[in-house]
Amino acid sequence: MRSSTPTEPRFLPTELGLVEAVETVGLPVRLTVCDGKVYTLWKPLVDRLRQESPVITVAGGETAKSLPTARRLWKKLWQYRIDKGQAVLLIGGGSVLDLGGFCAATWKRGVPFISVPTTFIAQIDAAIGGKTGLNFKEGKNLLGVYAQPVAILGYRGFLETLPKPEVRGGWAEAIKHALIVGGDLWEKLQGVSFKEPPSMELLAELAAVKVNIVRQDPYEEKGLRHVLNLGHTLGHVWETLSLRTERPLSHGEAVAIGLLQEGYLSLPPAALEALRTLMERAGLLNPLPDFTWKAWEKALLQDKKIRDGQLRMPLLQAIGQVKVDSLPIQALREATRWYRQEVRP
Ligand SMILES: NC(=O)c1ccc[n+]([C@@H]2O[C@H](COP(=O)([O-])OP(=O)(O)OC[C@H]3O[C@@H](n4cnc5c(N)ncnc54)[C@H](O)[C@@H]3O)[C@@H](O)[C@H]2O)c1
Repeated sequence: MRSSTPTEPRFLPTELGLVEAVETVGLPVRLTVCDGKVYTLWKPLVDRLRQESPVITVAGGETAKSLPTARRLWKKLWQYRIDKGQAVLLIGGGSVLDLGGFCAATWKRGVPFISVPTTFIAQIDAAIGGKTGLNFKEGKNLLGVYAQPVAILGYRGFLETLPKPEVRGGWAEAIKHALIVGGDLWEKLQGVSFKEPPSMELLAELAAVKVNIVRQDPYEEKGLRHVLNLGHTLGHVWETLSLRTERPLSHGEAVAIGLLQEGYLSLPPAALEALRTLMERAGLLNPLPDFTWKAWEKALLQDKKIRDGQLRMPLLQAIGQVKVDSLPIQALREATRWYRQEVRP
């Protein structure tokens, strides 16, 4: 639904609370789209949530966000004659929510959907902000619309079955949120255990960072939402370059490298050291995948606009202070060398 107010997530402490929250949305659930792995791991809970609606399972990961998968979903929306008086329930990580949100938003110009995010990243980031979409050809999220779910219902329990790299990746995005706002949230992260997903209270606090940013710039017209791309300029490079290696980095793990390298470009030394220490404690100082500078530059420029050899990107002036600025590619190359020589030789 095109609304300029972002839907705020509600976190429920128990399975029963989550089931009741879906019921109290006030729309009958007529179709459920669920991440296949989540359905296997959480079948009894999903079966209670779906209110006897048919369930379509979709494999998580980037392949979910494709036209053939979307076509499969649209066919079901047609088959079950879904209309505006009913809701589609989406249960999964960012990929299933991006896909399901896009299909619901484009079906009959938009039918209501409820999002139940099941990954750390989805609970604090992907489920929030109304961006839905599919990948097209080589490009991520090239097809997309803004659409707000009628409800976003978080349940921390889901995170207990997440694979470790997904938990670590979630922490990288959590650190990004804390770098953007600084203050209390940054201090809180100094004391957490990174072995486990955060408490429900901390999840809610992290999610609120995104809600607040989106509220100020819901359709990305003022450039304010761009701060959420902190760490992603170089992060995307490492995600792409690691894809063809034996140990591909999860999105969040790649973003963590990007956050530190981009921090090197603009943070004062003491703040940079604090970030490096936190990343180390979170197990996020991964070695760089093998790469050639030619492949590095190709990955860097893939979807970026470059003007007079300068790249526009969000940069940290201090912890809690982000500014969008332009930098020459040479500076990013320097940050990569620094990481390779001094952080993770
Ligand atoms: N719309 C947005 O604003 C936004 C923001 C950030 C990211 N995204 C998108 O989100 C996607 C990534 O989402 P993600 O990181 O949540 O990953 P994902 O949805 O691809 O899920 C990652 C893996 O975890 C599995 N999984 C999901 N929940 C689980 C659970 N509770 N227990 C065990 N396994 C579980 C999935 O099957 C999958 O294998 C990307 O496509 C990205 O572009 C969107």
